[in-house]
Amino acid sequence: MIISRGLSAIGVLSLPTLMRLIQVLISLVTPSSVEYPKQAEIKHGQTFDFIIVGAGSAGCVLANRLTEVSDWKVLLIEAGGDPPITSNTFSILFIFQLPALFSLVDYSSSDWNYYTENDGYTSQAHRTKNVHLTRGKMLGGSSGANYMIYVRGSREDYDDWANQGNEGWNWDNVLHYFKKSERMIDPIILNGETAQNHNTNGYLGVTRPDWKEKTEPLYEAFKENGHRILSDIHGEQQVGYYYPTFTIDNHIRQSTANAFLSPIRDRPNLFVLKNTLARKVIFDGKKAIGVEVLLPGGKVSEVFANKEVILSAGTINSPQLLMLSGIGPAAHLEENNIDVLIDSPNVGENLQDHACVLLIVAGKRNIVSAVQNLAGFVHLDSFPSPVVAGHVALDRKQTYPDYQAVLFVEPAASLTASIICATVVGLEYSICNEISYAIQDRESLIVAMTLLKPDSKGKIELKNKDPLEKVKIYSGFYSNKNDLEQHARSVEDFSTIVNTTYFKSVGSELVNVNLEACKNFTYGTHDYWKCYALNMVSTLWHPVGTCAMGPEGVGVVDERLRVRGVTGLRVSDASIMPAITRGNTNAPTIMIAEKTADMIKLDHGISIEV
Ligand SMILES: Cc1cc2nc3c(=O)[nH]c(=O)nc-3n(C[C@H](O)[C@H](O)[C@H](O)COP(=O)(O)OP(=O)(O)OC[C@H]3O[C@@H](n4cnc5c(N)ncnc54)[C@H](O)[C@@H]3O)c2cc1C
Ligand SMILES: *[C@@H]1O[C@H](CO)[C@@H](O)[C@H](O)[C@H]1NC(C)=O
Ligand SMILES: *[C@@H]1O[C@H](CO)[C@@H](O)[C@H](O)[C@H]1NC(C)=O
Repeated sequence: MIISRGLSAIGVLSLPTLMRLIQVLISLVTPSSVEYPKQAEIKHGQTFDFIIVGAGSAGCVLANRLTEVSDWKVLLIEAGGDPPITSNTFSILFIFQLPALFSLVDYSSSDWNYYTENDGYTSQAHRTKNVHLTRGKMLGGSSGANYMIYVRGSREDYDDWANQGNEGWNWDNVLHYFKKSERMIDPIILNGETAQNHNTNGYLGVTRPDWKEKTEPLYEAFKENGHRILSDIHGEQQVGYYYPTFTIDNHIRQSTANAFLSPIRDRPNLFVLKNTLARKVIFDGKKAIGVEVLLPGGKVSEVFANKEVILSAGTINSPQLLMLSGIGPAAHLEENNIDVLIDSPNVGENLQDHACVLLIVAGKRNIVSAVQNLAGFVHLDSFPSPVVAGHVALDRKQTYPDYQAVLFVEPAASLTASIICATVVGLEYSICNEISYAIQDRESLIVAMTLLKPDSKGKIELKNKDPLEKVKIYSGFYSNKNDLEQHARSVEDFSTIVNTTYFKSVGSELVNVNLEACKNFTYGTHDYWKCYALNMVSTLWHPVGTCAMGPEGVGVVDERLRVRGVTGLRVSDASIMPAITRGNTNAPTIMIAEKTADMIKLDHGISIEV
């Protein structure tokens, strides 16, 4: 053994502090390389054509596209400030070669730091007995905090949206907007058979690191296990293990602030208010005419829109803002002493998220890399560590996946797994200690096992009518028991990988974290994995659906994303998804905003490119 069990335990305990320290150090030593719009100087009562609330994945795209119309004045309001350097510059990761720095935004002041409610049922192996739900609070929103995997979801996801009565949202419709935003840089994809599904002149840079040498044996193992291997997941075939693409360009994160806002920061018709909280929408009767804001100095002010107000505050905050403005379930609003403008029972309901369970596969013994890593306390591999991803159907004939497996390939004694365990997810230290002990001299795979199509639903509720108060978030994970069955089956399906030729040849095994809560179950059985998933479950940070579009009587917004019951108000962000997509949600949210911009232009008589 390289280090004693006791020492690794101390290491694990100090990780959260170490990560905070690194956050501070990095922000002190690194100059910012990206420039953002300056703070607008506005007057109380000033009028714009459009007001967009929230400069996240959706809001920055909308601000860009709407200011293409030069005689439209657009105000973008964001609660956070410029992105911190820890969000941005990947070159520092290559200089310091530190692992897992992608997690440096979590828990910082650029994170809303939401936690789900403890339901006494799920996530009980977390130190807080609930889930930390990072949401970016900065220009770029959660696209400044995310893990940058570029995935669109399945054809069936969007065809289902359309079939539920949302005209204009089927796969063929939305593919146009996925392509519109994209600037694909990878030469293999651009010369491959999926090239027609990509575009090279959008704002959002998408690249793919070449990890083939390191990851090839893993793809071979998945192939042996009966899986299809796809060069690119964005073709006609959407089930298989694939070489993932990332929203990274030239080592710079392609947050929507970097990709969509920075290039147009000097447009004279763009006005950006940072560190400014929208408190509620102002109505004249049932017409939205403006927004009440809390300015950085602490003053409450009003700004007006003579065309439309658009909420892009994300899945947690958009329904909160609607409710604070009198649009929501009447009884719930009355409980909170809010005057009911529109009784809209589904505001805050229909919350869907991707439940994620962490698995560690310990692999080949590698004393050399273990010693190197421990001596320098750093990765000798460059970050990001190689990533392998799969969209897997339990029934191999199905055309859409049931689960996603994302594998991070780590050298021996890597700290990444412990950081994810102790800091990002916040599991019990005893679990993280088991993990760090198991991989101290072995290479490993950190596996994020995600249930892609849950039936469970959660919800958002107000605590009270104070706009500064955080809402209550009920994740609803596994509230439908079938989801727990499916997730356990997914883990079992994945775990058969240890019996493939390659995995056997390096003596791989799943790390048994000795979960106290599951000690009455035989390790590795279906009931054990159910218990494991139930206690370990975390989020892949993909909450959607709380202001879902849908037909009259169901949808909070209609298929043009207009809030039902009022005029002059739309919602455009991840909250409008009627059902979660089978994949990561950033690219779909950007697509939603691209499409919204065209719908707004058409509705105001501006022609669009098709
Ligand atoms: C840690 C993490 C990892 C992820 N990894 C991936 C990944 O690898 N790939 C992927 O595709 N997706 C990933 N996601 C998910 C993806 O980033 C989100 O689905 C997407 O960013 C949501 O976009 P949005 O526009 O709906 O909300 P956001 O991007 O969260 O934007 C909302 C914005 O509104 C602002 N705001 C909120 N309320 C107010 C108010 N009252 N006044 C003013 N401003 C307000 C917020 O500060 C924020 O900037 C990840 C997310 C996280 C957090
Ligand atoms: C691996 O194969 C052995 C022998 O067939 C079997 O007992 C075991 O359950 C398999 N392991 C997994 C995780 O599938
Ligand atoms: C395990 O089983 C024992 C004996 O039936 C019981 O007392 C204990 O509460 C169980 N532990 C857990 C974590 O369920």
